[in-house]
Amino acid sequence: MIVYLNGEFLPLEEARVPVLDRGFIFGDGVYEVIPVYNGLIFKLAEHLQRLENSLSGIKLANPFTTEEWTGILNSVITRNDGGDRSIYLQVTRGIAKRDHQFPQVVNPTVLVMSNPLNRVAVPAPITAITCEDTRWKRCDIKSIALLPNILLRQAAVEAGANEAILIRDGFVTEGAASNVFIVENGVVITPPKSNFILPGITRDIVLEIMPSAKEQNISEAQLRSADEIWVTSSTREILPVISLDNQPVGTGEVGAVWSQVLELYKQL
Ligand code: PDD
Repeated sequence: MIVYLNGEFLPLEEARVPVLDRGFIFGDGVYEVIPVYNGLIFKLAEHLQRLENSLSGIKLANPFTTEEWTGILNSVITRNDGGDRSIYLQVTRGIAKRDHQFPQVVNPTVLVMSNPLNRVAVPAPITAITCEDTRWKRCDIKSIALLPNILLRQAAVEAGANEAILIRDGFVTEGAASNVFIVENGVVITPPKSNFILPGITRDIVLEIMPSAKEQNISEAQLRSADEIWVTSSTREILPVISLDNQPVGTGEVGAVWSQVLELYKQL
């Protein structure tokens, strides 16, 4: 794999960051994950806008213009032979003696890498558990400091499930690394954007292709009695959840509305 690191394209094994990088010391940085289909970046403008919002949320200047980002990302894709991939990019507040306050002079560290996306015609359904949302109040920032998300995902895996669906004060926020939708009496519902969730690009796409979908709070009780539950993300697209806390979701089979939304997503 060829990666981009601070102005250079080099093999992953040769990419090195000094230990004083604030990403390593503090998790002081933000990231994006962007899908690539057939060598073409999907929803680039939306991802770059969210990156801009995350950078501004942590008071770090965007190191590149849209044109510069586009050039770098396309170079990484071409150098890794295109196809269906995901791009991972991260920007940290660079290298400085360890001190919580921002350094006087900031030279951000920029890393871009890319992995193949293993797409299948019909993705397998997944299982989930519910967990208390133990994260901070700026989940709208795509921060590289993901320890709570990691612990929550690991709790799901140790319970034999694929994803943790998070509950804050009795209401669904999102998944450990995904947004959440339910289908209730034929109505598609997802929690509204707020500082408690990441504004997922895939979430926006689902709202675009299903104009009747509603942005409304989902109580824990609604989640448990939903006919369908889906989780969405750039790497896993739209996945049906067929079991929640070891109880079947709806009939316990993949739902009809999910099959519809997946078809619409593929057409897009
Ligand atoms: N994560 N919520 C959280 C907490 C996420 O980490 C993600 C995606 C999403 C979905 O956002 P999008 O549709 O824009 O991918 C929601 C990425 C894929 C990751 O961390 O790998």
